[in-house]
Amino acid sequence: MKLCMIGTGYVGLVSGVCFSDLGNDVICVDKDINKINLLKKGKIPIYEPGLSELVIKNYKNKKLTFSSDLRTSVKNSDIIFICVGTPTKKNGSSADLSQVFNVAKEIASSINKFKIIITKSTVPVTTGDEIEKIISRKNNKNKFSVISNPEFLREGEAIRDFTFPDRIVIGTNDKKSSKILRNLYSPLISKGAQYVNTSRRAAELIKYASNAFLATKITFINEVANLCEKTDINVEDISIGMGLDKRIGSRFLRAGPAYGGSCFPKDTKAIISTGDKYKINLSVIKSVIKSNENRSKILLDKVYTILNKKIRNRNITFLGVTFKANTDDMRDSPSLKMIPALSKKGAIIKYFDPTGYKKEFGKTKNVTYENSIKKSVEGSDLVIIHTEWNDFKSINYKNLSKGKKFIIYDMRNIYSPAKIKAQGFKYFSVGR
Ligand SMILES: NC(=O)c1ccc[n+]([C@@H]2O[C@H](COP(=O)([O-])OP(=O)(O)OC[C@H]3O[C@@H](n4cnc5c(N)ncnc54)[C@H](O)[C@@H]3O)[C@@H](O)[C@H]2O)c1
Repeated sequence: MKLCMIGTGYVGLVSGVCFSDLGNDVICVDKDINKINLLKKGKIPIYEPGLSELVIKNYKNKKLTFSSDLRTSVKNSDIIFICVGTPTKKNGSSADLSQVFNVAKEIASSINKFKIIITKSTVPVTTGDEIEKIISRKNNKNKFSVISNPEFLREGEAIRDFTFPDRIVIGTNDKKSSKILRNLYSPLISKGAQYVNTSRRAAELIKYASNAFLATKITFINEVANLCEKTDINVEDISIGMGLDKRIGSRFLRAGPAYGGSCFPKDTKAIISTGDKYKINLSVIKSVIKSNENRSKILLDKVYTILNKKIRNRNITFLGVTFKANTDDMRDSPSLKMIPALSKKGAIIKYFDPTGYKKEFGKTKNVTYENSIKKSVEGSDLVIIHTEWNDFKSINYKNLSKGKKFIIYDMRNIYSPAKIKAQGFKYFSVGR
């Protein structure tokens, strides 16, 4: 099939390249010409494990092409996926749908034969109705079908998640288009993915409800971890004991810093805003947001306690600054709250991240990027494990520290407390 992905970010690029790898002809479109030029040279603008090899392979065999010409790309395709961003509005908490509607207007001017138009972007309930209205201003309704097909991939595991999804959700009442999509996804369905065909509005809400639920799970265990710290209980035992109950499940039940990233913070806010629009009080999700916003403060307070409230001129190292491992995404990373707060109190901060320098800290006082773990921990008073990269899991601190016994605050519980303490380091972790 001939597919067009509009928006070549984490979702558009990953799903586009995976569709091409399944044998479809895919054009990935972006208005960011630099991005398109990089991709044409085989360079990947984002960090995602395994993506580069797959892009190069499918670009070489011409199953995957890149373009900044949206209209021609739409004309040459049968199925159009809208994969642009839906960030939080600047003044408010609802989703800013301007990118989606701008794309819809451009599609409306490019329809030359029947098109299936799919929103893969995360969009609030009734956005599909709005897109349909925009496109029907210029086109007869029998020329197109607007479908919701939310994406559930996770950064860092995006290719695996796309290729082996738990479920594929298709929101449409149009039987003909549903059949075409079932066929498009048949290689994944035959490997075990559940195919859920529902109404367009339900598909839109499934995505938000799922993200809000996962954010709730993380926040829940983070609060339980606070209780564990006061009662001398290991939160890991609680996660195992709870997670073995099939009704609960073990995933997203690991205590740590606040949830961050490009989805949970904005999607929890957006679903509340949708609730408000229909006068429905989503009080559980509201309290999740509040608790999560307080999470960085709780972890910072612990840093102050660890350093006996003497922060000025103390050397603090952050290992990992992205919101989670295996991604370069800094959007709403908890480090964006913690590092500036410590800098404001006079700390001297060095950080190392496997995905390199971060412009986000370019203007923060006394914050330096180091290009190795070794350099970043040199002379440190406190080393904070902020992100659970494998690179940090087997560090030999004894060799690195040159005799200096810095303190380690492991916000991801990646080490065994007994082993680290046996090496002579003061060690703190989360909920244990
Ligand atoms: N990142 C994730 O892990 C993830 C997972 C599931 C769903 N989602 C959802 O998918 C959507 C996209 O997320 P993302 O992280 O891929 O965003 P992104 O910011 O990485 O990429 C969006 C891309 O769209 C491009 N764009 C914007 N307007 C355009 C236009 N008019 N024409 C062509 N290109 C245009 C931008 O230049 C950008 O490259 C969001 O709604 C998000 O909530 C994201």
